[in-house]
Amino acid sequence: MPNKPRHIILGISGGIAAYKSLSLIRLLQKNGAEVRVVATPNALQFVTPLSLQTLSCNAVYTDPFKILEHVEVEHVALADWGDALVVAPATADVVGKFANGIADDALTTLFLAFNKPVVLAPAMNHKMLQHPAVVENLQTLSARGCHVLGTGEGYLACGTNGSGRMLEPEQICDTLFRILALSQDLSGRRALVTAGPTYEPLDPVRFIGNHSSGLMGFCLAESLARHGAQVVLVTGPTHLELQNTDIQRIDVMAAQQMLAACEDHFPQCDIAIMSAAVADYTPQEVASQKIKKQSDTLTLTLKKNPDILSTLGHRKTDRQCVVGFALETENELENARLKLQNKNADIIVLNSLNHSGAGFKTPTNQVTIIDKKGHVTNGNLKDKREVAEDIVSYLVDYMSDTK
Ligand code: CTP
Repeated sequence: MPNKPRHIILGISGGIAAYKSLSLIRLLQKNGAEVRVVATPNALQFVTPLSLQTLSCNAVYTDPFKILEHVEVEHVALADWGDALVVAPATADVVGKFANGIADDALTTLFLAFNKPVVLAPAMNHKMLQHPAVVENLQTLSARGCHVLGTGEGYLACGTNGSGRMLEPEQICDTLFRILALSQDLSGRRALVTAGPTYEPLDPVRFIGNHSSGLMGFCLAESLARHGAQVVLVTGPTHLELQNTDIQRIDVMAAQQMLAACEDHFPQCDIAIMSAAVADYTPQEVASQKIKKQSDTLTLTLKKNPDILSTLGHRKTDRQCVVGFALETENELENARLKLQNKNADIIVLNSLNHSGAGFKTPTNQVTIIDKKGHVTNGNLKDKREVAEDIVSYLVDYMSDTK
């Protein structure tokens, strides 16, 4: 890869570490990148526009309100141009604005218009770094898909020792290029993901549902997109929102609608990950009017829903890879292996409800990945976003081994 130079936007905010950004520009260029700089007004207290312009060989974008010679909106055009945005240093101020959607200068405006990989290299006094507001803002940004780097320990500009120093330009550059490589490994691939519960209608006002939040599937869709795949997410009812606006979202209610959407999209897909908690049964009859209260008991007759994973598993061609989940409470491995076989999946991700912190309605999960070749990989309890990343990385390796 790549013959085309990487387009890197370097965002600089106002901290003393801004002087290190000058060597970061050089380093990025040495690694084959073309660099454009966006600096906040405070950053220009530490480094001059002339240094930034001379080193980057491009005009520095600092003022979103200046009259443009050309008609294109600069932050939007720049957002289209960049393959990645690296903000170094990322001060507490800019981190707070990013996390809260405030757009009052060139960098914060660009950030909101940017939907490709973002790397943040925080730099601030160690007490500021530990402040709950900053901790929470960094967590929010990380949960939305930004790559938040750590900080170094050592002498700080305020005269104390501690954490909060910006990482060295070499470390920032290495991480950025690793992330960019990763963002390519599924490029050109199409992926279908199911998420959330299904609501099976009983009458115009009632349904049978379950407690699935959809979070695991949303994290998987975001992760696949970060790896460069074109993603369609078919989701049952959930309050979740996607961060990545390139993901195509299809909202459905019942299992039949979920199946229909999957059948539409599966033939064009290389990957299908079925993480939805599809209701196994649905009411045999859907009353056209609200069911009135009558006797002391009410008997409902349910009929089996189609199994979406099994339907796609038995339709898949050699180029397609199908991943299912198994939610088990006993004989976990054995049952998961049976699902792998019976539903003709390539990979089954086993969720055991016996692990605390795993499964429905939790932000964390603990899974075991089982594949058709007989490999079994146990994971630790992690944030669902990290679990999604593990599953997608496993899938990438699995697919490159079977090519
Ligand atoms: N699944 C599906 N369609 C269904 C039921 C399940 O696509 N009608 C998929 C789920 O998305 C998941 C996998 O099948 O990927 C396993 O779901 P799970 O609930 O663990 O298993 P079931 O097949 O429903 O079997 P059981 O409830 O008996 O364990």
